[in-house]
Amino acid sequence: MTSTQSFVETGPKAIIKAAEILKSGGLVAIPTETVYGLGANAHDGKAVSRIFEVKNRPDFNPLIVHFGDLKDVSETVQMNEVAYILADAFWPGPITFVLPRLETAKVSDLCSAGLPTLAVRMPKHPVAREILKSCGFPVAAPSANISGRLSPTAAQHVANGLGDAVDLIVAGGSSETGLESTVVDLTSDVPVVLRPGTITKEDIEKVLGYEIEQGFDLQPDQQPKSPGQTLSHYSPSVPLRMNAVDLYPGEALLAFGSDKFIGIKGGGAAADLSEHSRRNLSEQSDLYEAAANLFQMLHELDRADHKGIAVMPIPNLGVGVAINDRLRRASAS
Ligand code: TXA
Ligand code: MG
Repeated sequence: MTSTQSFVETGPKAIIKAAEILKSGGLVAIPTETVYGLGANAHDGKAVSRIFEVKNRPDFNPLIVHFGDLKDVSETVQMNEVAYILADAFWPGPITFVLPRLETAKVSDLCSAGLPTLAVRMPKHPVAREILKSCGFPVAAPSANISGRLSPTAAQHVANGLGDAVDLIVAGGSSETGLESTVVDLTSDVPVVLRPGTITKEDIEKVLGYEIEQGFDLQPDQQPKSPGQTLSHYSPSVPLRMNAVDLYPGEALLAFGSDKFIGIKGGGAAADLSEHSRRNLSEQSDLYEAAANLFQMLHELDRADHKGIAVMPIPNLGVGVAINDRLRRASAS
């Protein structure tokens, strides 16, 4: 673990400093409502290449480019009617659209990793918005973690994971929604959800008035449409076990709802676990609360003195679909 407290800053001065660093080709970790992003000037290919280097990210995995206003988005990608309807309904907010790149786009080719499309998002977090406004250019930003590891929902997670490879970490509190944005491909007639998030497939269908497709959780013979879908992701360093109805000795518990009936094999109950081995995503079984707590609690339970993390069953409905998607990837190391 690297200590980088001196690089963590907050407040209006940090926003100005962030914009200056980004302008001069540096990397800045930025708070967003989903997770913290590792930002670089999207127009600056050299700066963008540093993102891949620092994250150890495979170069075939494209990045999401963040914008402060819709006009700049429409000068970068080919917007269509559905994109305008969804932007109106959900932006600024935790949803990303994959659209055809315009030939005149100033965004570095590295952002799209050789694809003819680009993923674009307008974040809601006030600090992210202020930084984007001060920059005047779009910011490419994947989650601010080493590729394949848990996403960061707090400045401290970024400091622990990336250390001083980042030029500045702007602190903006815990990420509100706590899961990466919903990614939707809008390049064909029917939108396809490539990555589930807190804006659900049903939320999108309600706005559009028709059914859309699901492009994640595919059968082995289906070709993934998003390069990131092929990668195991979001892994803590200890094994994770889903749908646990009891515990093995040495395992930590990540509960959902009451853990009153969770026993430890060989004797004992959840209540006997020490404080650092027991977390509850939502005692009231609220899926939005669980999403917001997921990465924070996985970070807390990810300790070498745990043999593993056992997660109680999460209903696969609404936001539960996105939570289970992240848990499945975390358990498939
Ligand atoms: O909430 C979020 O989306 C966060 C914050 C920082 O905005 N960012 C984030 O970025 O999660 P990242 O790089 O960790 O995930 C981006 C996902 C990857 O699965 C990638 O494969 C997919 O979006 N993606 C990016 N560009 C794409 C494209 N042109 N076509 C298909 N998938 C794309
Ligand atoms: Mg990521």
